[in-house]
Amino acid sequence: QSRIYRRGVLGHRPGVPFSPDRLREKAVRAMSTTARAYVDGGAGNGDTMRANRAAFDRWRIVPRMMRDTRERDQSVELFGRRLPSPFLTCPIGVAEMVHGEHDLAVARGARDAGVPMIVSTQASASTEQIAAELGDHERWYQLYWSSDDALVESFVRRAERAGCSAIVVTLDTTLLGWRTQDLDLGYLPFARGMGIAQYTADPVFRERVAERVANPPAEPGEPLPRPRPGAVRSLATLSRTYPGRTVDNLRSLEPRVAVETFLDLFSRQDLTWENLQWLTSRTSLPVLVKGIQHPDDAELAVGAGAAGVIVSNHGGRQVDGAVGSLDALPAVVERVGGRTTVLFDSGIRCAADAFKALALGADAVCIGRPWVYGLALGGAEGVRQVLEGFRAELDLTMALSGVTSIGEITAETLVRADPRP
Ligand code: FNR
Repeated sequence: QSRIYRRGVLGHRPGVPFSPDRLREKAVRAMSTTARAYVDGGAGNGDTMRANRAAFDRWRIVPRMMRDTRERDQSVELFGRRLPSPFLTCPIGVAEMVHGEHDLAVARGARDAGVPMIVSTQASASTEQIAAELGDHERWYQLYWSSDDALVESFVRRAERAGCSAIVVTLDTTLLGWRTQDLDLGYLPFARGMGIAQYTADPVFRERVAERVANPPAEPGEPLPRPRPGAVRSLATLSRTYPGRTVDNLRSLEPRVAVETFLDLFSRQDLTWENLQWLTSRTSLPVLVKGIQHPDDAELAVGAGAAGVIVSNHGGRQVDGAVGSLDALPAVVERVGGRTTVLFDSGIRCAADAFKALALGADAVCIGRPWVYGLALGGAEGVRQVLEGFRAELDLTMALSGVTSIGEITAETLVRADPRP
């Protein structure tokens, strides 16, 4: 952090605000209406998004004085690998909505900040392209569980070959949540061919598309309404509008068929814990489940072979009215904490939030929307600055609270505060 302070003393003003509120305000102003709705919006009335923030307010750090804190170490060990800090990037799809260099910029920013990247199934570039950008930097792969097991296996094999060291399977999105801001704009990014680069790069998906082209469904689906004047008329138009971008590789596929096939294959609603056993038996990589809120589910996940759980409510984008994610953390830690790796996300906006989650038993935390805001404002450099800011602020918070390692950030460092009225 001394480098960041020194720059300030020398009169450099950062292009991307360090203040979390200003970062968000500036970024959403810079975004298109549709990107703002998609990134900044949540499910329903936004109650769970607010609950995520309110949960942090119920805890306060109690700094300790007069401890020698010159030597500080924020590294953590996860699955036998030493990571430089307890931060990872949340998997976040459709980054092309906020920046033309999308996940490739995220990869460079995360690499330069020393923060491992979790690559999304809904990324705007393929795992292979992102891995090339990352070089030997740590990455994990986030899986949306397709209704087609062959596609699931293909995604996992590709992640293994691309050097990912863990699989994160997201359990909370068997359907997209009731995203009112997107709905009000009549907008579904995926239906516009965005965020499907992982699919169009996949050999199994390409086979499925070819099958569809060869055998079009006898019963045509419900006809779509005529596009409004000025709306993008087809994916072919979109490909021409954004040459060289994600949608470009749709040219080799029948565009409409690709998107329809994607919508059919995207998710699966009949999953049970037995399926998780199948998945964990199919890869030697550790499998973490993302979206856990109930201690019983954490227990069942461990029983089915999960190597870790991510306590998350998808940033309040799935079940509106659901419990704030930090409120759900202690019970999960109490149940499975000693036996499995527990990660946390949803609502982290600054390092003090991360400190609280670590104190309540998380082994590491994932940063979500803040890096998207950094991406929107400054591409790779913006992502780097946001992530470096988290690391620098955590280092300061540790020093000023009298702790020198992540292991020392325990429940003893917190007190419960009265909730806001
Ligand atoms: C997400 N999230 C998400 N999760 C996932 O497993 N795969 C994905 O592709 C996405 N895509 C995505 C897009 C956008 C725009 C957002 C905001 C979120 C959820 C994400 O990984 C994480 O759980 C939340 O972002 C955490 O909440 P906060 O901290 O961002 O509020």
